[in-house]
Amino acid sequence: MNAFKRILVTGGAGFVGSNLALALKRDLAWVEVIALDNLKRRGSELALERLKQGGVLFCHGDIRCPEDLAAVGPVDLILECSAEPSVQAGYGGSPAYVLQTNLAGTMHCLELARQHGSAIIFLSTSRVYPIAGLRAIPLKEQGSRLVVAPGQAGIGWSEAGIDEGFPLAGSRSIYGATKLASELLIEEYRAMYGLSVIINRCGILTGPWQLGKVDQGVVVLWMARHCFGLPLRYIGFGGTGRQVRDLLHVDDLYDLLRVQMADLTRYSGLVRNVGGGAEISCSLQELTDWCQRITGQTVPIASDPVTQDFDIPYYVSNHDQITRESGWRPQRRVEQTLLDIHGWIMAHRDRLAPLFG
Ligand SMILES: NC(=O)c1ccc[n+]([C@@H]2O[C@H](COP(=O)([O-])OP(=O)(O)OC[C@H]3O[C@@H](n4cnc5c(N)ncnc54)[C@H](O)[C@@H]3O)[C@@H](O)[C@H]2O)c1
Repeated sequence: MNAFKRILVTGGAGFVGSNLALALKRDLAWVEVIALDNLKRRGSELALERLKQGGVLFCHGDIRCPEDLAAVGPVDLILECSAEPSVQAGYGGSPAYVLQTNLAGTMHCLELARQHGSAIIFLSTSRVYPIAGLRAIPLKEQGSRLVVAPGQAGIGWSEAGIDEGFPLAGSRSIYGATKLASELLIEEYRAMYGLSVIINRCGILTGPWQLGKVDQGVVVLWMARHCFGLPLRYIGFGGTGRQVRDLLHVDDLYDLLRVQMADLTRYSGLVRNVGGGAEISCSLQELTDWCQRITGQTVPIASDPVTQDFDIPYYVSNHDQITRESGWRPQRRVEQTLLDIHGWIMAHRDRLAPLFG
């Protein structure tokens, strides 16, 4: 860990990037941590004061522009957290921004890494797995949620969730495609230029400072709407809110990164599913119950039964491989994560209210 002198966090004013940059600076005080961000995400400017107070250098830059990255200079490690992170990006309009940021931007980060021999940790996504394949997993209604039909399993899936062996043929959204294409490029840079690279395919990440919106960051959106007494909607799969996701607290992701950073050589070249897993998962109905209990508020929830093209009824990360290899496992349960989010919203109520309206 002492080998790191300068770390670049791209998307460093975003939810994941700002949390990781601040935690790194807190724990590795001697390291210069640079957060680069173009502030495209609504509300990302709220991170600037936190970054400054935490001793992280902010660099206003755009990963679509190689010269913005070159201006950062040599770094030992790049945490690639910048993205257009919405699975809906490109639907009904041009995919230019998501392609240029998520794919060309990765290429520019790789070039910076090649020139300076930097390691890269890339935040990929469960959305690399094709939509039709995920929808074909047999599910059954069980109380307030969908579950994998008991006793059933197939290639890359079981009651423990989706693992890295899940077949990749089929479409997955432009967002998912840019992430998978980035993964392939990253592997080529590892093989050709000897870079240390780690790819974490994350399920839903959440926690304080996530500026949740309908198409990304739904857990925080759900809690915020309860805090502010605003309506919600169950969308798709009959409109009953039984769709399921696993949740990973951003602090658990940080714990994993520290393990990976401590032995880059060991983890380099690995592509691993990272998430809360079956034990730390919930349906939207269950999320509603938690939010009601924690806030004491009930908000109107409409029902829209029509399923959108990109949506999937069930995604739980099977993180067994990385857990076996590293000993890491997520520690923060659903309740703790939701309590953290609630505490953060209440502490910054006035500033956050306009962002969740
Ligand atoms: N949050 C999740 O549930 C989740 C799940 C899986 C993977 N991921 C991945 O984790 C990473 C971080 O996601 P997040 O949740 O923090 O999203 P976020 O939107 O909060 O953060 C992304 C940041 O990137 C910045 N950005 C966008 N385009 C840029 C550009 N061209 N140049 C520089 N900065 C740019 C945005 O302003 C924003 O601050 C992304 O790569 C995302 O795909 C997130």
